[in-house]
Amino acid sequence: MTAMSIAFRLVALAALLISVASPSLAQTYVWSLPAWLPPPPVPADNPMSVAKVELGRRLFFDQKLSGPSYISCSSCHMPEHAFSDPRHPSVGVTGGKIRRRPPPLSNVGYRETLTWADPRVKTLEDQVHQPLFRAEPPEMECNGHEASIVDRFEYDPTYHRMFVEAFPDKGGKVDFDQIIKALAAYQRSLISYTTPYERFRFGGERDVLSQSAQRGERLFFDAKLGCAICHAGATFGPLADKLLPGAAAVVYANTGLYDLDGKGAYRPIDRGLLESSELREDMGRFRAPSLRDVAKRAPYMHDGSVASLEAVIDRYAAGAPTLAAADKFSPLKDSRLRGFTISAAERDDLIAFLRALSDEAFAADERHGSPFR
Ligand code: HEC
Ligand code: HEC
Repeated sequence: MTAMSIAFRLVALAALLISVASPSLAQTYVWSLPAWLPPPPVPADNPMSVAKVELGRRLFFDQKLSGPSYISCSSCHMPEHAFSDPRHPSVGVTGGKIRRRPPPLSNVGYRETLTWADPRVKTLEDQVHQPLFRAEPPEMECNGHEASIVDRFEYDPTYHRMFVEAFPDKGGKVDFDQIIKALAAYQRSLISYTTPYERFRFGGERDVLSQSAQRGERLFFDAKLGCAICHAGATFGPLADKLLPGAAAVVYANTGLYDLDGKGAYRPIDRGLLESSELREDMGRFRAPSLRDVAKRAPYMHDGSVASLEAVIDRYAAGAPTLAAADKFSPLKDSRLRGFTISAAERDDLIAFLRALSDEAFAADERHGSPFR
Protein backbone atom coordinates (compact mmCIF):
# COMPACT_ATOMS: atom_id res chain seq x y z
CA MET A 1 0.00 0.00 0.00
CA THR A 2 1.43 3.38 -0.90
CA ALA A 3 1.47 6.28 1.55
CA MET A 4 -1.08 7.97 -0.70
CA SER A 5 -3.56 5.12 -0.53
CA ILE A 6 -3.10 4.78 3.26
CA ALA A 7 -3.86 8.47 3.61
CA PHE A 8 -6.88 8.04 1.35
CA ARG A 9 -8.19 5.14 3.46
CA LEU A 10 -7.75 7.14 6.66
CA VAL A 11 -9.71 10.02 5.23
CA ALA A 12 -12.44 7.62 4.10
CA LEU A 13 -12.53 6.01 7.55
CA ALA A 14 -12.78 9.39 9.24
CA ALA A 15 -15.63 10.36 6.91
CA LEU A 16 -17.41 7.12 7.75
CA LEU A 17 -17.02 7.69 11.49
CA ILE A 18 -18.33 11.24 11.21
CA SER A 19 -21.32 10.08 9.18
CA VAL A 20 -22.16 7.38 11.73
CA ALA A 21 -21.76 9.78 14.62
CA SER A 22 -23.82 12.53 13.09
CA PRO A 23 -27.11 11.57 11.50
CA SER A 24 -27.64 14.98 9.97
CA LEU A 25 -24.43 14.62 7.95
CA ALA A 26 -25.44 11.12 6.83
CA GLN A 27 -28.75 12.57 5.65
CA THR A 28 -27.27 15.31 3.51
CA TYR A 29 -28.04 14.55 -0.11
CA VAL A 30 -25.07 14.76 -2.46
CA TRP A 31 -26.00 14.92 -6.13
CA SER A 32 -22.55 13.84 -7.40
CA LEU A 33 -23.12 15.06 -10.94
CA PRO A 34 -20.48 16.06 -13.47
CA ALA A 35 -19.64 19.77 -13.64
CA TRP A 36 -21.58 20.23 -16.89
CA LEU A 37 -24.87 19.04 -15.42
CA PRO A 38 -26.86 21.12 -12.89
CA PRO A 39 -29.16 19.26 -10.46
CA PRO A 40 -32.91 19.41 -11.17
CA PRO A 41 -35.05 22.02 -9.39
CA VAL A 42 -36.28 20.93 -5.96
CA PRO A 43 -39.41 22.45 -4.34
CA ALA A 44 -38.66 24.39 -1.15
CA ASP A 45 -41.12 22.30 0.87
CA ASN A 46 -39.59 18.98 -0.17
CA PRO A 47 -35.81 19.17 0.22
CA MET A 48 -33.80 16.12 -0.78
CA SER A 49 -32.34 13.78 1.84
CA VAL A 50 -30.78 10.35 1.64
CA ALA A 51 -33.43 8.94 3.97
CA LYS A 52 -36.29 10.37 1.90
CA VAL A 53 -34.90 9.03 -1.37
CA GLU A 54 -34.45 5.57 0.17
CA LEU A 55 -38.00 5.61 1.54
CA GLY A 56 -39.36 6.76 -1.83
CA ARG A 57 -37.46 4.02 -3.58
CA ARG A 58 -38.93 1.35 -1.30
CA LEU A 59 -42.44 2.73 -1.77
CA PHE A 60 -41.96 2.86 -5.55
CA PHE A 61 -41.26 -0.87 -5.70
CA ASP A 62 -43.79 -1.94 -3.05
CA GLN A 63 -47.17 -3.42 -4.00
CA LYS A 64 -48.43 -2.48 -0.53
CA LEU A 65 -48.83 1.04 -1.89
CA SER A 66 -51.83 -0.04 -4.02
CA GLY A 67 -55.31 -0.53 -2.62
CA PRO A 68 -55.47 -4.32 -3.16
CA SER A 69 -51.69 -4.72 -2.57
CA TYR A 70 -50.70 -6.24 -5.86
CA ILE A 71 -49.33 -3.53 -8.06
CA SER A 72 -46.53 -1.02 -7.58
CA CYS A 73 -45.25 1.99 -9.49
CA SER A 74 -42.58 -0.36 -10.84
CA SER A 75 -45.24 -2.65 -12.35
CA CYS A 76 -45.51 -0.09 -15.17
CA HIS A 77 -42.22 1.77 -14.73
CA MET A 78 -39.70 -1.10 -14.76
CA PRO A 79 -36.06 -0.09 -14.32
CA GLU A 80 -34.92 -2.91 -16.61
CA HIS A 81 -37.11 -1.43 -19.35
CA ALA A 82 -35.97 2.17 -18.97
CA PHE A 83 -38.73 2.71 -16.36
CA SER A 84 -41.37 1.98 -19.00
CA ASP A 85 -43.41 -1.18 -19.65
CA PRO A 86 -42.80 -3.86 -22.30
CA ARG A 87 -46.42 -4.99 -21.93
CA HIS A 88 -48.74 -3.18 -24.25
CA PRO A 89 -51.11 -1.93 -23.11
CA SER A 90 -50.12 -1.56 -19.46
CA VAL A 91 -52.82 -2.71 -17.06
CA GLY A 92 -54.00 -1.11 -13.84
CA VAL A 93 -54.77 -2.78 -10.58
CA THR A 94 -58.27 -3.92 -11.60
CA GLY A 95 -57.03 -5.25 -14.95
CA GLY A 96 -58.23 -2.15 -16.83
CA LYS A 97 -56.22 -1.29 -19.93
CA ILE A 98 -54.20 1.93 -19.64
CA ARG A 99 -54.69 4.09 -22.73
CA ARG A 100 -51.15 5.49 -22.85
CA ARG A 101 -47.56 4.27 -22.67
CA PRO A 102 -45.68 4.95 -19.41
CA PRO A 103 -42.98 7.56 -20.15
CA PRO A 104 -39.42 6.76 -19.02
CA LEU A 105 -38.50 8.28 -15.65
CA SER A 106 -34.80 8.96 -16.16
CA ASN A 107 -34.22 12.71 -15.78
CA VAL A 108 -37.92 13.19 -15.04
CA GLY A 109 -36.96 15.80 -12.40
CA TYR A 110 -35.84 18.13 -15.19
CA ARG A 111 -39.13 18.01 -17.13
CA GLU A 112 -41.11 21.24 -17.07
CA THR A 113 -44.48 19.57 -17.60
CA LEU A 114 -45.46 16.02 -16.84
CA THR A 115 -47.62 13.42 -18.62
CA TRP A 116 -48.18 13.15 -22.38
CA ALA A 117 -50.70 15.93 -22.68
CA ASP A 118 -51.51 17.89 -19.54
CA PRO A 119 -49.26 20.94 -19.08
CA ARG A 120 -51.01 21.78 -15.82
CA VAL A 121 -49.11 18.94 -14.14
CA LYS A 122 -45.79 20.53 -13.33
CA THR A 123 -44.26 18.77 -10.34
CA LEU A 124 -43.68 15.17 -9.37
CA GLU A 125 -45.65 15.85 -6.20
CA ASP A 126 -48.67 16.82 -8.36
CA GLN A 127 -48.28 13.99 -10.84
CA VAL A 128 -48.27 11.21 -8.28
CA HIS A 129 -51.93 11.81 -7.46
CA GLN A 130 -52.80 10.35 -10.86
CA PRO A 131 -51.49 6.79 -10.41
CA LEU A 132 -52.50 6.73 -6.75
CA PHE A 133 -56.02 8.09 -7.00
CA ARG A 134 -57.19 8.28 -10.61
CA ALA A 135 -60.32 6.23 -11.17
CA GLU A 136 -60.70 5.70 -14.93
CA PRO A 137 -59.29 3.08 -15.06
CA PRO A 138 -57.69 2.80 -11.65
CA GLU A 139 -53.91 2.46 -11.77
CA MET A 140 -53.22 1.73 -8.08
CA GLU A 141 -56.64 2.35 -6.54
CA CYS A 142 -55.66 3.94 -3.26
CA ASN A 143 -59.02 5.76 -3.04
CA GLY A 144 -61.03 4.41 -0.16
CA HIS A 145 -58.02 2.39 1.05
CA GLU A 146 -56.04 5.33 2.46
CA ALA A 147 -56.36 4.31 6.11
CA SER A 148 -55.43 0.68 5.57
CA ILE A 149 -52.45 1.65 3.38
CA VAL A 150 -51.19 3.99 6.09
CA ASP A 151 -51.61 1.15 8.62
CA ARG A 152 -49.55 -1.21 6.47
CA PHE A 153 -46.63 1.18 6.75
CA GLU A 154 -47.10 2.28 10.37
CA TYR A 155 -47.13 -1.31 11.66
CA ASP A 156 -44.14 -2.42 9.59
CA PRO A 157 -40.94 -1.98 11.66
CA THR A 158 -38.72 -1.29 8.62
CA TYR A 159 -41.07 1.35 7.28
CA HIS A 160 -41.56 2.83 10.73
CA ARG A 161 -37.81 3.40 11.03
CA MET A 162 -37.59 4.79 7.49
CA PHE A 163 -40.48 7.22 7.91
CA VAL A 164 -38.98 8.50 11.19
CA GLU A 165 -35.62 9.05 9.48
CA ALA A 166 -37.14 10.73 6.43
CA PHE A 167 -39.65 12.92 8.31
CA PRO A 168 -38.24 13.26 11.86
CA ASP A 169 -40.83 15.90 12.86
CA LYS A 170 -43.72 13.48 12.21
CA GLY A 171 -42.49 10.88 14.69
CA GLY A 172 -43.58 7.92 12.57
CA LYS A 173 -47.19 9.05 12.10
CA VAL A 174 -47.57 8.22 8.40
CA ASP A 175 -49.72 10.18 5.93
CA PHE A 176 -50.01 10.50 2.14
CA ASP A 177 -48.20 13.83 2.13
CA GLN A 178 -45.04 12.05 3.28
CA ILE A 179 -45.59 9.16 0.85
CA ILE A 180 -45.94 11.60 -2.05
CA LYS A 181 -42.91 13.66 -1.03
CA ALA A 182 -40.72 10.57 -0.68
CA LEU A 183 -41.80 9.21 -4.09
CA ALA A 184 -41.02 12.59 -5.67
CA ALA A 185 -37.58 12.76 -4.01
CA TYR A 186 -36.69 9.27 -5.24
CA GLN A 187 -37.76 10.14 -8.78
CA ARG A 188 -35.68 13.35 -8.72
CA SER A 189 -32.67 11.19 -7.93
CA LEU A 190 -33.08 9.25 -11.20
CA ILE A 191 -30.50 11.11 -13.23
CA SER A 192 -28.95 9.64 -16.33
CA TYR A 193 -25.98 11.33 -18.01
CA THR A 194 -23.73 8.52 -19.21
CA THR A 195 -25.20 7.62 -22.57
CA PRO A 196 -22.46 6.98 -25.18
CA TYR A 197 -23.63 10.19 -26.83
CA GLU A 198 -23.09 12.34 -23.74
CA ARG A 199 -19.80 10.66 -22.94
CA PHE A 200 -18.70 11.54 -26.47
CA ARG A 201 -20.12 15.06 -26.62
CA PHE A 202 -19.52 16.29 -23.09
CA GLY A 203 -17.14 13.80 -21.48
CA GLY A 204 -14.45 13.94 -24.15
CA GLU A 205 -14.48 10.16 -24.79
CA ARG A 206 -13.76 10.06 -28.50
CA ASP A 207 -14.10 6.28 -28.99
CA VAL A 208 -17.53 5.59 -27.51
CA LEU A 209 -19.61 6.74 -30.46
CA SER A 210 -19.43 4.80 -33.74
CA GLN A 211 -18.91 6.63 -37.05
CA SER A 212 -22.44 5.60 -37.97
CA ALA A 213 -23.91 7.17 -34.81
CA GLN A 214 -21.87 10.33 -35.45
CA ARG A 215 -23.43 10.60 -38.91
CA GLY A 216 -26.80 9.93 -37.25
CA GLU A 217 -26.18 12.81 -34.85
CA ARG A 218 -25.71 15.17 -37.79
CA LEU A 219 -28.97 13.95 -39.34
CA PHE A 220 -30.86 14.37 -36.05
CA PHE A 221 -29.73 18.00 -35.73
CA ASP A 222 -30.10 18.73 -39.47
CA ALA A 223 -32.86 21.18 -40.38
CA LYS A 224 -34.01 18.90 -43.22
CA LEU A 225 -35.13 16.19 -40.78
CA GLY A 226 -36.00 18.61 -37.99
CA CYS A 227 -35.93 15.99 -35.20
CA ALA A 228 -34.09 18.26 -32.77
CA ILE A 229 -36.64 21.07 -33.13
CA CYS A 230 -39.09 19.02 -31.13
CA HIS A 231 -37.01 16.44 -29.26
CA ALA A 232 -33.74 18.08 -28.15
CA GLY A 233 -35.11 19.85 -25.07
CA ALA A 234 -37.05 16.82 -23.87
CA THR A 235 -34.16 14.46 -24.49
CA PHE A 236 -31.19 16.40 -23.21
CA GLY A 237 -32.83 18.49 -20.51
CA PRO A 238 -30.48 21.21 -19.28
CA LEU A 239 -27.86 20.18 -21.86
CA ALA A 240 -30.13 20.99 -24.79
CA ASP A 241 -29.03 24.61 -24.84
CA LYS A 242 -25.44 23.57 -25.39
CA LEU A 243 -26.47 21.42 -28.36
CA LEU A 244 -29.10 23.68 -29.85
CA PRO A 245 -29.16 27.12 -28.26
CA GLY A 246 -32.73 28.14 -27.46
CA ALA A 247 -34.18 24.63 -27.84
CA ALA A 248 -37.69 24.56 -26.42
CA ALA A 249 -37.89 22.43 -23.28
CA VAL A 250 -41.44 21.30 -23.98
CA VAL A 251 -43.08 20.88 -27.37
CA TYR A 252 -46.62 19.65 -27.95
CA ALA A 253 -47.31 18.52 -31.50
CA ASN A 254 -49.79 16.57 -33.58
CA THR A 255 -47.83 13.97 -35.54
CA GLY A 256 -50.78 13.06 -37.73
CA LEU A 257 -51.40 9.53 -36.49
CA TYR A 258 -55.20 9.73 -36.73
CA ASP A 259 -57.84 11.50 -38.76
CA LEU A 260 -61.07 9.73 -37.95
CA ASP A 261 -63.48 12.34 -39.34
CA GLY A 262 -61.61 14.21 -42.07
CA LYS A 263 -61.15 17.08 -39.59
CA GLY A 264 -58.26 15.52 -37.70
CA ALA A 265 -60.10 13.68 -34.91
CA TYR A 266 -58.06 11.37 -32.69
CA ARG A 267 -59.57 8.39 -30.88
CA PRO A 268 -62.31 9.54 -28.47
CA ILE A 269 -60.54 7.88 -25.54
CA ASP A 270 -57.40 9.96 -26.09
CA ARG A 271 -57.57 13.33 -27.81
CA GLY A 272 -54.34 14.82 -26.46
CA LEU A 273 -53.85 18.39 -25.31
CA LEU A 274 -57.44 19.27 -26.22
CA GLU A 275 -58.56 17.36 -23.11
CA SER A 276 -56.92 19.89 -20.81
CA SER A 277 -57.06 23.05 -22.96
CA GLU A 278 -60.46 22.47 -24.60
CA LEU A 279 -59.11 24.13 -27.75
CA ARG A 280 -60.07 22.50 -31.03
CA GLU A 281 -56.60 23.03 -32.53
CA ASP A 282 -55.06 21.02 -29.69
CA MET A 283 -56.71 17.81 -30.92
CA GLY A 284 -54.02 15.12 -31.18
CA ARG A 285 -51.23 17.24 -29.78
CA PHE A 286 -48.97 15.31 -27.42
CA ARG A 287 -45.73 16.20 -25.68
CA ALA A 288 -42.68 15.34 -27.78
CA PRO A 289 -41.19 12.60 -25.61
CA SER A 290 -37.65 12.27 -24.40
CA LEU A 291 -35.73 9.91 -26.66
CA ARG A 292 -33.42 8.69 -23.88
CA ASP A 293 -33.30 4.89 -23.81
CA VAL A 294 -35.75 4.95 -26.71
CA ALA A 295 -34.31 1.80 -28.30
CA LYS A 296 -35.31 -0.12 -25.16
CA ARG A 297 -38.96 0.72 -25.05
CA ALA A 298 -40.93 -0.20 -28.15
CA PRO A 299 -43.74 0.10 -29.14
CA TYR A 300 -43.78 3.83 -29.73
CA MET A 301 -45.94 6.96 -29.52
CA HIS A 302 -48.37 7.84 -26.71
CA ASP A 303 -50.49 4.78 -27.50
CA GLY A 304 -47.88 2.31 -28.75
CA SER A 305 -49.33 2.50 -32.26
CA VAL A 306 -45.98 2.40 -34.11
CA ALA A 307 -44.02 -0.80 -33.65
CA SER A 308 -40.37 0.04 -34.33
CA LEU A 309 -37.87 2.87 -34.74
CA GLU A 310 -37.63 2.01 -38.44
CA ALA A 311 -41.39 2.50 -38.78
CA VAL A 312 -41.28 5.79 -36.81
CA ILE A 313 -38.62 7.19 -39.16
CA ASP A 314 -40.36 5.93 -42.31
CA ARG A 315 -43.56 7.70 -41.24
CA TYR A 316 -41.72 10.97 -40.68
CA ALA A 317 -39.92 10.57 -44.02
CA ALA A 318 -43.29 10.11 -45.76
CA GLY A 319 -44.51 13.39 -44.22
CA ALA A 320 -46.40 11.73 -41.32
CA PRO A 321 -49.42 10.11 -43.01
CA THR A 322 -52.21 8.63 -40.91
CA LEU A 323 -51.83 5.13 -39.52
CA ALA A 324 -54.90 4.02 -41.44
CA ALA A 325 -53.85 5.11 -44.94
CA ALA A 326 -50.33 5.92 -46.17
CA ASP A 327 -51.69 8.45 -48.67
CA LYS A 328 -53.90 10.41 -46.21
CA PHE A 329 -52.78 13.33 -44.10
CA SER A 330 -54.54 14.90 -41.16
CA PRO A 331 -55.45 18.60 -41.55
CA LEU A 332 -54.20 19.09 -37.97
CA LYS A 333 -50.78 17.54 -38.56
CA ASP A 334 -47.89 19.78 -37.46
CA SER A 335 -46.72 21.81 -40.46
CA ARG A 336 -43.08 21.12 -39.59
CA LEU A 337 -43.54 17.47 -40.55
CA ARG A 338 -43.08 17.92 -44.28
CA GLY A 339 -41.26 14.68 -45.07
CA PHE A 340 -37.75 14.14 -46.42
CA THR A 341 -35.76 11.63 -48.42
CA ILE A 342 -33.49 9.36 -46.45
CA SER A 343 -31.43 6.45 -47.78
CA ALA A 344 -31.44 3.06 -46.05
CA ALA A 345 -27.87 3.72 -44.87
CA GLU A 346 -28.84 7.11 -43.43
CA ARG A 347 -31.78 5.57 -41.64
CA ASP A 348 -29.39 3.05 -40.08
CA ASP A 349 -27.16 5.94 -39.00
CA LEU A 350 -30.07 7.78 -37.40
CA ILE A 351 -31.04 4.62 -35.53
CA ALA A 352 -27.43 4.11 -34.42
CA PHE A 353 -27.61 7.62 -32.94
CA LEU A 354 -30.92 6.87 -31.19
CA ARG A 355 -29.39 3.67 -29.78
CA ALA A 356 -26.49 5.75 -28.44
CA LEU A 357 -29.06 7.50 -26.21
CA SER A 358 -29.36 4.39 -24.03
CA ASP A 359 -27.63 4.66 -20.67
CA GLU A 360 -26.34 1.25 -19.59
CA ALA A 361 -24.59 2.52 -16.47
CA PHE A 362 -27.83 4.14 -15.28
CA ALA A 363 -29.76 0.92 -15.98
CA ALA A 364 -27.25 -1.16 -14.02
CA ASP A 365 -27.04 1.24 -11.07
CA GLU A 366 -28.38 -0.69 -8.08
CA ARG A 367 -29.19 2.53 -6.19
CA HIS A 368 -32.17 2.99 -8.52
CA GLY A 369 -33.41 -0.59 -8.57
CA SER A 370 -35.70 -2.58 -6.33
CA PRO A 371 -34.64 -2.78 -2.68
CA PHE A 372 -36.54 -6.08 -2.33
CA ARG A 373 -34.04 -8.20 -4.27
C1 HEC B 1 -50.80 0.93 -14.39
C2 HEC B 1 -49.57 1.51 -14.88
C3 HEC B 1 -48.89 2.60 -14.09
C4 HEC B 1 -48.64 2.62 -12.75
C5 HEC B 1 -48.95 1.56 -11.71
C6 HEC B 1 -47.94 3.86 -12.49
N1 HEC B 1 -47.78 4.56 -13.65
FE1 HEC B 1 -46.80 6.31 -13.87
N2 HEC B 1 -47.47 6.46 -15.74
C7 HEC B 1 -48.21 5.51 -16.41
C8 HEC B 1 -48.71 6.07 -17.66
C9 HEC B 1 -49.55 5.35 -18.69
C10 HEC B 1 -48.26 7.40 -17.70
C11 HEC B 1 -48.61 8.46 -18.76
C12 HEC B 1 -49.86 9.13 -18.22
C13 HEC B 1 -50.41 10.22 -19.10
O1 HEC B 1 -49.70 10.80 -19.89
O2 HEC B 1 -51.59 10.52 -18.93
C14 HEC B 1 -47.48 7.61 -16.49
C15 HEC B 1 -46.83 8.81 -16.19
C16 HEC B 1 -46.01 8.99 -15.09
C17 HEC B 1 -45.18 10.14 -14.84
C18 HEC B 1 -45.00 11.33 -15.77
C19 HEC B 1 -43.71 11.17 -16.53
C20 HEC B 1 -43.49 12.20 -17.60
O3 HEC B 1 -42.47 12.16 -18.26
O4 HEC B 1 -44.35 13.05 -17.79
C21 HEC B 1 -44.57 9.95 -13.64
C22 HEC B 1 -43.60 10.89 -12.96
C23 HEC B 1 -45.05 8.70 -13.12
N3 HEC B 1 -45.91 8.12 -14.03
C24 HEC B 1 -44.73 8.18 -11.87
C25 HEC B 1 -45.41 7.11 -11.29
C26 HEC B 1 -45.34 6.77 -9.88
C27 HEC B 1 -44.51 7.48 -8.84
C28 HEC B 1 -46.16 5.69 -9.69
C29 HEC B 1 -46.51 4.99 -8.39
C30 HEC B 1 -47.11 5.82 -7.38
C31 HEC B 1 -46.70 5.34 -11.01
N4 HEC B 1 -46.26 6.24 -11.94
C32 HEC B 1 -47.53 4.26 -11.24
C33 HEC B 1 -48.46 4.22 -15.98
C34 HEC B 1 -48.37 3.83 -14.65
C1 HEC C 1 -43.09 18.69 -34.88
C2 HEC C 1 -42.40 18.09 -33.77
C3 HEC C 1 -41.66 16.78 -34.04
C4 HEC C 1 -40.67 16.53 -34.96
C5 HEC C 1 -40.10 17.49 -36.00
C6 HEC C 1 -40.24 15.17 -34.75
N1 HEC C 1 -40.95 14.61 -33.74
FE1 HEC C 1 -40.74 12.74 -33.02
N2 HEC C 1 -42.38 13.00 -31.85
C7 HEC C 1 -43.06 14.18 -31.66
C8 HEC C 1 -44.22 13.96 -30.84
C9 HEC C 1 -45.23 15.01 -30.40
C10 HEC C 1 -44.23 12.58 -30.54
C11 HEC C 1 -45.32 11.83 -29.76
C12 HEC C 1 -46.58 11.81 -30.61
C13 HEC C 1 -47.66 10.91 -30.10
O1 HEC C 1 -47.38 9.99 -29.31
O2 HEC C 1 -48.82 11.11 -30.50
C14 HEC C 1 -43.04 12.01 -31.17
C15 HEC C 1 -42.64 10.70 -31.05
C16 HEC C 1 -41.41 10.20 -31.50
C17 HEC C 1 -40.89 8.90 -31.19
C18 HEC C 1 -41.54 7.87 -30.28
C19 HEC C 1 -40.94 7.99 -28.90
C20 HEC C 1 -41.68 7.27 -27.81
O3 HEC C 1 -41.23 7.35 -26.65
O4 HEC C 1 -42.71 6.63 -28.06
C21 HEC C 1 -39.67 8.80 -31.79
C22 HEC C 1 -38.71 7.63 -31.74
C23 HEC C 1 -39.45 10.04 -32.51
N3 HEC C 1 -40.55 10.87 -32.33
C24 HEC C 1 -38.32 10.32 -33.24
C25 HEC C 1 -38.22 11.43 -34.08
C26 HEC C 1 -37.21 11.58 -35.10
C27 HEC C 1 -36.08 10.61 -35.35
C28 HEC C 1 -37.48 12.75 -35.74
C29 HEC C 1 -36.77 13.33 -36.94
C30 HEC C 1 -36.86 12.51 -38.14
C31 HEC C 1 -38.66 13.33 -35.12
N4 HEC C 1 -39.07 12.51 -34.13
C32 HEC C 1 -39.25 14.54 -35.48
C33 HEC C 1 -42.73 15.39 -32.21
C34 HEC C 1 -41.83 15.57 -33.27
